[in-house]
Amino acid sequence: MRINKGFQAWDHPYLFQAMEQAYSALDADQKCRVINLGIGDPDLPTPAPIRDAIAREHKSRYHGYPTSQGRLDLREALANHYAERFGVNADPDQFYIGPGAKTDLFDLNAVFAESGDSVIILDPAYPVYRDAAGYRQQRIHFLRGTFENYYQPEFDPDAIEGKIALIYLCYPNNPTGVTAERSYIRTMIDTALRFQCLIVMDIAYADFVPGNHPSSAFSIFELPGGEDVGIEVGSFSKPFSMTGDRLSWVLIKNPAVRKYWHRYRSNRDSGASNYDQAGGLAALTDPAVKPIVQSNFEIYGRRANILTNGLKMLGFPMTGLLNTPYAWFKTPFPNSVDAARTILSETGIILTPGSGFGPSGEGFLRATIFQPESRLVQAIDRLQKFNFPTK
Ligand SMILES: Cc1ncc(COP(=O)(O)O)c(C=O)c1O
Repeated sequence: MRINKGFQAWDHPYLFQAMEQAYSALDADQKCRVINLGIGDPDLPTPAPIRDAIAREHKSRYHGYPTSQGRLDLREALANHYAERFGVNADPDQFYIGPGAKTDLFDLNAVFAESGDSVIILDPAYPVYRDAAGYRQQRIHFLRGTFENYYQPEFDPDAIEGKIALIYLCYPNNPTGVTAERSYIRTMIDTALRFQCLIVMDIAYADFVPGNHPSSAFSIFELPGGEDVGIEVGSFSKPFSMTGDRLSWVLIKNPAVRKYWHRYRSNRDSGASNYDQAGGLAALTDPAVKPIVQSNFEIYGRRANILTNGLKMLGFPMTGLLNTPYAWFKTPFPNSVDAARTILSETGIILTPGSGFGPSGEGFLRATIFQPESRLVQAIDRLQKFNFPTK
């Protein structure tokens, strides 16, 4: 048997496995009282008009292959969404409907970087960028985010060895919840133009707004130069509770770049399922969806307040919960896996260890709002009774 070398080196367990092991070590009584704040899956149901559209499509249509680029009506709806939401003019032909942003983010690396190239990766961030680069034996350069640089770390591209192929950015960010300043992204665009590399901009949370406040999320294509170097990845998963449907998009405006993604997508898979795409179309165009999403965001906003106030009362420095479902906070535990394991066994609360999101996540924990208000109140109460180590 032969195993791909990059895959062999990729031997760290996926983020949630460490916590799954700690959970299985609990006895039955302990398991009963667990409150899971580790989960990144919206608990409020997919809006009914989206589910109805998926069911209608399933019943009424011959179950043939979808097109690899995605349905034209959905791409048109996305073009309208970009015009209304970001003031960005995009042609439907510049969109590629994908089977989930996770897959798109992983696969973009296969097309736009080679083994040995340097890949610049925001840290902490969604682990898939790092895994995609590690798998292909590329040099990973983390942009080390801190409270002090407000998770918008600068870097000196002249100091990077080897060819810079890709810069992976994610704002609003998982896990920190921070949205970037436009000037920061502009600097990254200038660097990408100078080094002739591309920026993969993950905006999976751009439309997730607990509390319905005005969102400061934006598209890379709002900025000068963005259309030359930007590859934007978006997802239906979080704002529309569609994680199980696997539906995303990639927007590429530069035709020379798009040509290669087109080639990849037409060979790599046969597109996102037609049912899911019907659901995505309803999400963007059925007027009955918006009020449901807004009402979900009201609920998420109340939960975010409970978590924010509770963590502040505990005195933990934190970010997040404005444009993402995540609170990101620092406890006196130096090691985040130890912290999450101890808190789980002592309080029954599952949190995600920050180190799973990259080296700059060490010492931090992530909590989500995908539990009812009463459970969040209970969780805060338990954390307040728990004896955290003193520094
Ligand atoms: C930043 C970020 N990007 C992408 C994804 C994956 O989205 P999808 O469900 O479309 O694969 C996630 C999922 O948690 C995420 O946090």
